[in-house]
Amino acid sequence: MNTAMDARSWTTAARLYNSTVAAWAIGAAWELGALDELAEHGVLDTFEFATRHDLDAASTLGMFRALAAVGVVRRDDTKIVPADAFAEIHQTRSLFHWLVRGSAELFRQMPSVLRNENRAGEFYRRDPAAIAFACKEISTFCYDPWFWSAVDGLGTDFGVVLDLGCGSGERLRQVLHRHPGTRGIGVDIAGEALKVAEKDAATAGLADRVTFVEEDMLSMATRPEFADVELLTCFMAGHDLWPREQCVRTLRRFRDLFPNARRFLIGDATRSVGIPDDELPVFMLGFEVAHDMMGAFMPTVEDWESVFADGGWRLRRKHTIDMVASEVIFELERR
Ligand SMILES: C[S@@+](CC[C@H](N)C(=O)[O-])C[C@H]1O[C@@H](n2cnc3c(N)ncnc32)[C@H](O)[C@@H]1O
Repeated sequence: MNTAMDARSWTTAARLYNSTVAAWAIGAAWELGALDELAEHGVLDTFEFATRHDLDAASTLGMFRALAAVGVVRRDDTKIVPADAFAEIHQTRSLFHWLVRGSAELFRQMPSVLRNENRAGEFYRRDPAAIAFACKEISTFCYDPWFWSAVDGLGTDFGVVLDLGCGSGERLRQVLHRHPGTRGIGVDIAGEALKVAEKDAATAGLADRVTFVEEDMLSMATRPEFADVELLTCFMAGHDLWPREQCVRTLRRFRDLFPNARRFLIGDATRSVGIPDDELPVFMLGFEVAHDMMGAFMPTVEDWESVFADGGWRLRRKHTIDMVASEVIFELERR
């Protein structure tokens, strides 16, 4: 039997438990604008913030208490200021959001998802719109600098770019802004993410230069406009092409679907190799466990390098990023 004194000594449990609650608070504080406000003004009052955003005051205070419990903010009654961990959490907030908003339902269902008897049909759910929201920001620090270096290094202009698994469409919007003569096509299987993409493209004044197509990239049929595509991109969705046989087949199929695509940029997280369990960086564990639960094959860099030639593409360059999930960008050209 445990006593009250024992409970006080459960400091490891308390730290883990409070961190779990804080992870939810990080996702919420980002979405509700509290993190940005703290970053900008260096201080906020809980109740004034709650009133201004029409939030429940007690729950808002609870959110800040959770952040204070793990050193993200300091709380003096209702006054909140950034604490030591704030800058790091502000920078990595989208990784938390991916977990607690985008993938929450998958993790909540862990016991059921693990049972073989349940692993058929649609055996898990995630929130595609929330994933698209988080990925938009994850991309800015995990891929963008390397993406632009790869695009700038292509040494060729392109009239039409097609983004496979485009999610929120952010990458296409950026490419179109930087290349005013270019048109874009976004392909995604998730209608909810495409609604966000269409709305954002219209807001950015790009509605007449970009189209979005709700299709499964593994099985989509050809369309007349695919013949104009000169640059193919696929970011944070390439692992969905796997396992190997399917990946090779689909890479070959992309050659037929897009006969004028001269370059293909695949940027993705890869399966980590040789990192001890107690040295895993932020995100990697959640990302890999989630994909295991979803039954999604997560290739290593070596796995990827073994499919390009068979898939009809030549690896021109590899940009090793290695931020939080062994990210890499492969720059391919048609063989
Ligand atoms: C992690 S998000 C990345 C979104 C975007 N590429 C980015 O860089 O932010 C992965 C996207 O791939 C899409 N996706 C997954 N499997 C797909 C498939 N078979 N066909 C088309 N899209 C797919 C998902 O719906 C999701 O929007």
